[in-house]
Amino acid sequence: MLNFDFYNPTQILFGQGQIAAIAKQIPASARVLLVYGGGSIKQNGVYDEVLAALADFTVTEFAGIEPNPSYETLMRAIAQVKAEKIDFLLAVGGGSVIDGTKFIAAGALLEEDPWTILEKRGNNIVAAMPFGAVLTLPATGSEMNSGGVVTRKSTHEKFSFMSRKCFPKFAVLDPSKTYSLPTRQVGNGVVDAFAHVMEQYMTYPVGAKVQDRFAEGLLLTLIEEGPQALANPDDYDVRANVMWCATLALNGLIGAGVPQDWATHMIGHELTALHNLDHAQTLAIVLPSMLRVRKEGKRAKLLQFAERVWNLSGGDEDTRIEAAITRTEEFFEQMGVKTRLGDYGLGAKDLDGILSALEAHRMVKLGEQRDVTLDVSRKVLEMSL
Ligand code: NZQ
Ligand code: ZN
Repeated sequence: MLNFDFYNPTQILFGQGQIAAIAKQIPASARVLLVYGGGSIKQNGVYDEVLAALADFTVTEFAGIEPNPSYETLMRAIAQVKAEKIDFLLAVGGGSVIDGTKFIAAGALLEEDPWTILEKRGNNIVAAMPFGAVLTLPATGSEMNSGGVVTRKSTHEKFSFMSRKCFPKFAVLDPSKTYSLPTRQVGNGVVDAFAHVMEQYMTYPVGAKVQDRFAEGLLLTLIEEGPQALANPDDYDVRANVMWCATLALNGLIGAGVPQDWATHMIGHELTALHNLDHAQTLAIVLPSMLRVRKEGKRAKLLQFAERVWNLSGGDEDTRIEAAITRTEEFFEQMGVKTRLGDYGLGAKDLDGILSALEAHRMVKLGEQRDVTLDVSRKVLEMSL
């Protein structure tokens, strides 16, 4: 097992009715800015419940954080925070709203232009405003991690940042608030969580048995419960399991002490920035080909994955590995997330643009062995056509 330094201070309030508990988590004198997206929270009752919980606070709002939150929108929020002397942020929504709130929290206290947070991947964050989250979409893990991803629309760039100052103080996870999700977002969430586990598990063995078993448990649960969430959308326990899986998939626990990959995510971010695909759609396209192209470097873990996750133990090694990757692809399709570039109207003509963006952003040595060069990324994309 590799050395690690695991830190996660986010308090989790899990279950039905927990929104009411947020009042106890926010300082009584706080001026609170409620940050949310395009309005789904007004349709499913979350907005009313949050306002009822905050009845004794001074609350103002910033609405309109878009999926793949934009720097441009977030800069307007930062201006509002300063003008209204806000001292606590409450993100209510999915990963985009929570990521956006992290950027606002750090950007509002930064002397330089907040864009530098993205250029420097969060390394220049010295402080962030305190914030909490009410999660409505299980997918990203943003509710219990310190990362965020922001897009600059004007330049079609999507960058991630990370800082220990950017953990939410608390996060409410009420599975009943996910009943209203459109099927597309249910599928996206399960695929994103699955990919997060894979980025930290599907590398090479380092004798980290606990992390491996946790990761396999999360994958098996997503495979079992994901399709149930589509078939029985109002089943509380199904939603609860999916929600907790997504959080545990990227809260640092399974990634402690193991090598990590993230090449699929980096290519995926370019696809979203250039062609506006949903985050999980990009992962469903890239991940299966990434595993095929890098089969040799990942052989031992692919065989472990085939046996423990997909129950494939017969036949020769290459047959088992290919079967496991095919089953993964079929699972993404079963969740309603298409797995080929062509499914989204993209083709060979688009590859040069994606590769140029990777090069411009110095994404030329990706993966746990730093061996995913532009040539490897090209092969992956060609295999995903
Ligand atoms: O904006 P509203 O109206 O709220 O609607 C949203 C949005 O249209 C809707 N939605 C959310 N909860 C709902 C709901 N609709 C009905 N009922 C509910 N309960 O869903 C749509 C998508 O929301 P979004 O927040 O964009 O989705 P997601 O949670 O998948 O977040 C995606 C963003 O997170 C980043 C992605 O790159 C992308 O920008 N990621 C963040 C990570 C992190 N912080 O650690 C890691 C991930 O790998 C990922 O990169
Ligand atoms: Zn992701």
